[in-house]
Amino acid sequence: MEIIIQPDALTASELAARFICKFIRQKPDAVLGLATGSTPLLLYKELCRSNQRERLDFSRVQTFNVDEYVGLPPEHPCSYRHYMEEKLFRHISIPAANTHMPDGQADDIEAGCDAYERRIQAAGGIDLQVLGIGSDGHIGYNDPVSSLGSRTRVKTLTKEKREEQAYAFGSLQEVPMYVVTMGITTIMESRQIVLLAFGAQKAEAIVHMVEGPVTSLVPASILQMHPRVKLFLDEGAATFLAQKEYYRWVFENRPVWQRW
Ligand code: GLP
Repeated sequence: MEIIIQPDALTASELAARFICKFIRQKPDAVLGLATGSTPLLLYKELCRSNQRERLDFSRVQTFNVDEYVGLPPEHPCSYRHYMEEKLFRHISIPAANTHMPDGQADDIEAGCDAYERRIQAAGGIDLQVLGIGSDGHIGYNDPVSSLGSRTRVKTLTKEKREEQAYAFGSLQEVPMYVVTMGITTIMESRQIVLLAFGAQKAEAIVHMVEGPVTSLVPASILQMHPRVKLFLDEGAATFLAQKEYYRWVFENRPVWQRW
């Protein structure tokens, strides 16, 4: 795991964007896994800028999002499809057919989950997966004690998560009860992972993920078993890391061929 600590979320997001842009330039038909939430917003802004100012070409890129609500139409302002359109897709001229979301509206949701796995396989697998992390260490909607062997499936939103979302949806009743999320094994199969975490509210999840044992109680800790993970943190999210100075030293002294 490469741990990259930056002074703030903007600097960390710019650095992550630079890495992803280089990745796309080297593989113009890259398959990206994407996440929603507040964390990747600055990263997406940077990717939009690179598309517009530096002519970064997204025409052959394919994307697969990590999760989507069950029963929410794509045009619903709280759907993750809507988020992706607003924050990224409509600004980077990516063909609509290249952007994939889990199907939360399938008549047979479970068959839809299996079909999503097959679509990922048919695209050649995910080359680079972007992730955020929940303050309890979840990735996607793989909450604590999710199977480390899981694949795309339906999960029940936690009571807390539904309450958090009530404001955006207008009332608690409007918040869907279920989501479709990539599983932990689906995520682990991507060739490269970029996880971003900002703010002191993520510090505990990050120390458990990086320096704690691998356990389904902290789903993100499985990333310790992945050979290519880059973790972009601000100082707040890095607060509790015991080996902070070592990570800084390694990053500052990384070999030239690993710079971007
Ligand atoms: C949600 C999403 C995750 C996201 C996490 C953190 O539960 N399913 O994909 O990474 O919360 O969200 P935020 O970035 O808003 O802190």
